Amino acid sequence: MKRRDLIKKLGLAGGTLALSGMTSTPVLASALKTLKKKRVLKIAHLTDVHIRPEYNAVNRFKNCLEKIKKDKVDLILNGGDTIYAADYDHIKKERVLELWACWKDSVKVVAGTPMHHVLGNHDMWWQGKGDEMYGKPGVLKMLDMPHNYYSFDRNGWHFIMLDSNHPTSPGMLDEIQWNWFVNDVEKNSQGKPILIMSHYPLLSCTGITDSKPDATGPFKISGSYNHLDIMKFIEVFNKNKNVKLCLSGHIHLLDKVWYNDVTYLCNGATSGFWWEPGDDGKSAYKQTVPGYTLLNLYNDGSFDHEYIKYEA
Ligand SMILES: [Fe+2]
Repeated sequence: MKRRDLIKKLGLAGGTLALSGMTSTPVLASALKTLKKKRVLKIAHLTDVHIRPEYNAVNRFKNCLEKIKKDKVDLILNGGDTIYAADYDHIKKERVLELWACWKDSVKVVAGTPMHHVLGNHDMWWQGKGDEMYGKPGVLKMLDMPHNYYSFDRNGWHFIMLDSNHPTSPGMLDEIQWNWFVNDVEKNSQGKPILIMSHYPLLSCTGITDSKPDATGPFKISGSYNHLDIMKFIEVFNKNKNVKLCLSGHIHLLDKVWYNDVTYLCNGATSGFWWEPGDDGKSAYKQTVPGYTLLNLYNDGSFDHEYIKYEA
């Protein structure tokens, strides 16, 4: 309902409201809440783009970005696995540069829209030690990221971008990042709602439906499917109720978990089945088709979201 219509319906036009005694009614309280609630950000969350020259992926991704452009978002969040794969042993520097060139060409479509990234497990090139493209610094340079983890404020919300790529136990933060994270949450605990993005899900149910033989951790699920340090996160969230939303990807399956008032959205992959013919004969991975997520964030800490399926 539009604000104007709501005011009319309540007979409150004129601005001076005879509110005494009325605010106790749940209907009016909820109506006033609606009046005060305002969308402050519209965001597109992309993840697992896995861009590559094969399968006409660049043009298909550009079509996706054209759609996002029409959505007129304020911000794009890129959840990692930006390029197809730089992490395998046989990958040469030429291939890494080719993949990043595909990315840079594609994102010209949304030039001017701010974009924030996290590191995926396939983004880092671990060959050629000492090379400017080596490891995490190479990716930070390609994506113009300030650090492998960082935070920022935008329109009354606080955003924390995490690096799930622990050097020995994928799917957890090392001690230095963990201490930074706790400090960052506590520093920003005064009212600002918090959105967290990681590549690996902090908490996800697709870890069960897409389980892998390397299952480890308290739930016998790979750390790349469910953060191994999730119990520590839950403790922090329990003390800091302004943490509202955790975004992730990696699994290529669409999943939503709500636990202790925190929503965990593991969103489907923009590349679907890595741009290849998928499980539906087109481009889906299992039952999840390629897509991106539109998020509306509101000034009262609430949000809504929709997974947009585009034809990839
Ligand atoms: Fe991944």
